Amino acid sequence: MQGQLMFAILFVTLCVETLAEDEFLYKQFTDPERDAFHYGKFQEDFAWGVATASYQIEGAWNEDGKGPSVWDTFAHTPGKTHLNQTADVTCDSYHKIAEDVKNLKELGVNHYRFSLSWSRIMPKGTPDEINPAGVQYYHDLIDALLAANIQPMVTLYHWDMPQVLMDIGGWENELMHALFVAYADFCFNEYGGKVTKWITFNEPTVFTVFGYEIGYHAPGKTHLGWGAYRAGHIVLKAHASAYHLYDKKYRASQNGVVGITLHARWYEPKTDTDADRAAAQRALTGELGWFAHPVFLTGDYPEVAKELIAAKSRAVGLTSSRFPEFTEEEKQMLKGSADFFGLNHYSTSYIENKVDASLIPNIMSDLDYKASEDDSWDRTGSWWLRPVPWGLRRTLKWIKKTYGDIPVYITENGMSENDGPVRLEDTDRVTYYRAYINEILKAQQIDGVNLKGYIAWTLMDNFEWAEGYNERFGLFHVDFNDPDRPRTARASAKAFAQIIKDNGFIKAKEKSEL
Ligand code: NOJ
Repeated sequence: MQGQLMFAILFVTLCVETLAEDEFLYKQFTDPERDAFHYGKFQEDFAWGVATASYQIEGAWNEDGKGPSVWDTFAHTPGKTHLNQTADVTCDSYHKIAEDVKNLKELGVNHYRFSLSWSRIMPKGTPDEINPAGVQYYHDLIDALLAANIQPMVTLYHWDMPQVLMDIGGWENELMHALFVAYADFCFNEYGGKVTKWITFNEPTVFTVFGYEIGYHAPGKTHLGWGAYRAGHIVLKAHASAYHLYDKKYRASQNGVVGITLHARWYEPKTDTDADRAAAQRALTGELGWFAHPVFLTGDYPEVAKELIAAKSRAVGLTSSRFPEFTEEEKQMLKGSADFFGLNHYSTSYIENKVDASLIPNIMSDLDYKASEDDSWDRTGSWWLRPVPWGLRRTLKWIKKTYGDIPVYITENGMSENDGPVRLEDTDRVTYYRAYINEILKAQQIDGVNLKGYIAWTLMDNFEWAEGYNERFGLFHVDFNDPDRPRTARASAKAFAQIIKDNGFIKAKEKSEL
C-alpha cells in the first residue's frame, strides 16, 4: 500500500513537471507535435551573433571623407521617410566602437554581423580614390572585435550604394557588375587577413523590389514590372563574379567563406485546396528561388517564374520577357557560387491562388498569388511581422529539401515595437526569441538541417529605413534624444545572453544540478 502511494506521488510529480516544462510559448499555437518546446543544445562551434548595417547605425554621414550614399540622398528628400527622419547621426556607432563591443561582450556572442559602407571606403565608388579614414574605421572595429574573441561576419552590400554610382543608373546599369567586383576585391584584400566570413548581398529581393520597382526605399525608382528583375539580374552576376574572385585570388591564403543573404517568409497554403497548395509552392519557388535557384541549384531562374513572366509579357504584346535571361556561361558562373546560405526570416503569410490579369505586374501578380495574415497571430511594431515561430522551421526544411545540405546561417531574425515610452521589459520579444530559436533547434536536431549559426536582428534600436525610428528592433534600447545615444539592455538582451550561455535550452531541473 505504501509502495502504491509512493508511486502515485511520483507519478503526479512527474506529470506536473512535464507540463511545466512542455511550454507552448504562444497560446494560439498548441499543436503538441509542432509547437511543444524542445530541449537540447547546439553543437560546440555554433555561431551566435547579432547583426547591424552601416547606414542604420553608423551616423557620421559626411564625416572624414565619406561620400554620400543613395540612402543619404533618399532620407534627405522630404516625404520619403517617417517624419522625414534620417540616419545622419542614428546610433553614432562611427564614434562608439568601444561601447558597441562592450555590449556585444555582455551578450556573449561569438560573431558580429555588420556591413561596410561602400561610400565611406570609396567616396566616388571606384578604387582609384580611397578614403583612408573610412578604411581605418573598419580596421579599428574588426581589431576590437577580434580582441574580444568575436568573429566578424561582413556584409559587403547592405543597400547604401554610393550616390555617384546611382547617378549612372545604379543596379540597372550593367557596369555595376564590374564596379561591385572591384569594390569586393579591395575589401577582400584589405580585410581578408582578419575576416573569414563574407556576405556579398543582403536581401536582394527586398532592395530591388522596394528600391527599383515600388519606390518605397532608395533609390526610389518605380519601374513597375521590370525594375527589380533587371536590377536583380545584375546583382546576381556581380555576386557570382565576386565569389569566384575570392575563390581564385584569396581563398588559399585567407581560408574564408563567401555566402549571400536572402530573405524568406514562410508561405503556408491558406486552404487545403490543390490551388492554394500549388500557389504557396509557386510563391516560395518563384520568390526565394528567384535568387536562390541560380546560386544554389541550377545556375538559372526557376522554370515556373520564367514561364509565367514570359507568358504575361507576351499577353501584353511584348516581344521578349520582362524577366532577363542568363547566357550559358553566366549560368556556369552562378551555379554553386556560395559556401553558405544566409537566411533572413521574420514571419509567415497565408498564400492563396489569385490570377488577375488587370494587376500592375510585380513579383506577386506575376506568380499568381495573394498573401494575407491570420488575425489570431500577435502583432508587433511592423505591419508585416507577426510571430509565427513554426514558419521558420518549415522554411529551413524547405531549403534543405530544395537546395540540399548546404550550410545555413540564420543571418537575421527578430521583432519590432513602435517608438514610445522606454520599454525595457520586452517580454514579447523574449518570447519571440525563445520560440524562434527553439524552432531552429528542432530544424537541426529533428529535421537534420545543416545549421551553423543564429544571428539576431539587432544589437540595438536603429534607423529602420523608410520607417525611421518608429520601429525598434533592438536587444538594447537607444535614446535618440540624447546626444550621447546611450544604449540600455532590454530583458531580451539578458534572455538571449542566457540562451547563448546554455548553447540552447536546458530544463530548469538540469540547470539547478549544474
Ligand atoms: C531586413 C534588413 O536586412 C534590415 O536592414 C532591416 O532593418 C530588418 N530586416 C528589419 O526590417
